[in-house]
Amino acid sequence: MSLPGEPSRAVEPVLRLESLTRVHGSGATEVHALRGIDLDVFPGELVAVMGPSGSGKSTLLTIAGGLDLPTAGRVVVEGTDLTTASRKELAALRRRSIGYVFQDYNLIPALTAVENVALPRELDGVSARRARREALTALEEMGLGHIADRFPDEVSGGQQQRVAIARALVGDRRLVLADEPTGAL
Ligand SMILES: Nc1ncnc2c1ncn2[C@@H]1O[C@H](COP(=O)(O)OP(=O)(O)O)[C@@H](O)[C@H]1O
Ligand SMILES: [Mg+2]
Repeated sequence: MSLPGEPSRAVEPVLRLESLTRVHGSGATEVHALRGIDLDVFPGELVAVMGPSGSGKSTLLTIAGGLDLPTAGRVVVEGTDLTTASRKELAALRRRSIGYVFQDYNLIPALTAVENVALPRELDGVSARRARREALTALEEMGLGHIADRFPDEVSGGQQQRVAIARALVGDRRLVLADEPTGAL
């Protein structure tokens, strides 16, 4: 909102989807998972995408997270168009700006909970010590401080899911995407 006489301050969306279409497969097995989706998500907004199984929720999230590309349309994250970004730009956005909670968690089995959470920060060049400290804080916020040094197969499904959430939140991410993040909680 702007007051009369005050210049309007344009707030840029964190995520913008423009005429997004995604067709899986081709010919007889072609599936239109998304057809002309427009969506803006602004800083601080919480958006829930709801729909029955097969309605395209995961397809939408993987495209918004730069894990898949649309057949047509644009995906803009913090001003960068993911459909034209270089692999390097895309990797940097996925490391720094986008947190992604996978439906099947995707934790690395050979790393402990705290190492899993610290990994994206270490990959982004933060010192191992600081990455570990941030990861511990994120785990504590999820009520998981006590399982920090356990491996994924040594904790419950719900705890694995919360480790995956902590990993998506660590660092200053402006866009957190979660695919059915409460399935095991
Ligand atoms: N890799 C794929 N290849 C072919 N079809 C797919 C693929 N991924 C999803 N689909 C199809 O796209 C539609 C949307 O799927 P999805 O995005 O997984 O929906 P949801 O997450 O809402 O259950 C479904 O019809 C699904 O079968
Ligand atoms: Mg899904």
